[in-house]
Amino acid sequence: MALKIPVFTCPLYCLLSCRGGSSLSKNSQTSHTPDMSSSSSGWTPRHSQLCMYFDNIVLFTGSFQVGEHGTLLKKFCKGEQQCYLKLMKDSLRPFVPAYHGVVQKDNQDYNMMENLLNNFNSPYIMDCKIGSRTYLENELQLARERPQPRQDMFEKMVAVDPGAPTAEEQAQKAVLKSRYMQWRETLSSTTTLGFRIEGFKKPNEDCQTNFKKTKSKEQVIKALSDFVESNTQIVWGYLRQLRQLRQVLETSDFFKTHEVVGSSLLFVHDCSGKARVWMIDFAKTVTLPPHFRVDHQSPWVEGNREDGYLWGLDNLIDVLTNMLHY
Ligand SMILES: Nc1ncnc2c1ncn2[C@@H]1O[C@H](COP(=O)(O)OP(=O)(O)O)[C@@H](O)[C@H]1O
Ligand SMILES: [Mg+2]
Repeated sequence: MALKIPVFTCPLYCLLSCRGGSSLSKNSQTSHTPDMSSSSSGWTPRHSQLCMYFDNIVLFTGSFQVGEHGTLLKKFCKGEQQCYLKLMKDSLRPFVPAYHGVVQKDNQDYNMMENLLNNFNSPYIMDCKIGSRTYLENELQLARERPQPRQDMFEKMVAVDPGAPTAEEQAQKAVLKSRYMQWRETLSSTTTLGFRIEGFKKPNEDCQTNFKKTKSKEQVIKALSDFVESNTQIVWGYLRQLRQLRQVLETSDFFKTHEVVGSSLLFVHDCSGKARVWMIDFAKTVTLPPHFRVDHQSPWVEGNREDGYLWGLDNLIDVLTNMLHY
């Protein structure tokens, strides 16, 4: 693998969803490129295979590539493209990366978007997945329609909690995917607070992704305090952003008409005191049927499509507010 590429200021790609397989070459793109500047300097790989990131930059999952002119390429997903096209015309636009269309590279299509880390110096980056569940109702249905005992999921379950499988599952050494998906949500703060920390990365430190069992308010506050290094100015900055986002969500047509599942808030700050929050990852965000309404706060009951997005956001705002009084 060639290890010299123009640098990009985008540390956290690998943060959570490190699926291995970094692609680190500069791209030849086939669509227009936006007029943005990118910096360049050398870089060196740092640290573990699990979390690939580089000094001053880039954490790649197999899903991402560096684009030109301060952009980032994410493997094409039609649903996500449709979301970005609508978001570019929605009141939420200031809270999502700018979308620049589809580009092709090595026979693979990518959605090209703004790299949100462009204007930060040595950024601190955190990915928080928002909502009271992270799978879609139809994923659950599909898993039920084709019930297959899964050994791999049994093993993952036992690795986290040896007591979790039922006697029957223990005997089969397998669990159903639908059961695994629902169990997994109960481990973290997803079901209790409506959000969970996927991971964060501080400058010159390893990625921290060990939050699968960070569930109680106290545990979450401890992790967030670590991320902001107890800097109340940064907490205030994030709170201001989250409250603005909360207001804009109330007015957004996009939000009214979509079930937002598996989406994250990306938190970025640096030592200048600048702190920003954006919504990212719309791969699992789907349009609701016409006239179907959700309030994004009510508890989820299968069939009501509630995603708990606003409930999670309110809890996150509460938690950060509590941190100011510690
Ligand atoms: N536009 C962006 N600018 C900067 N970093 C981004 C951007 N989009 C995603 N990332 C980084 O990549 C990580 C994974 O992105 P995401 O869209 O959530 O993909 P996945 O489907 O792999 O979860 C995020 O946690 C974030 O650190
Ligand atoms: Mg994601």
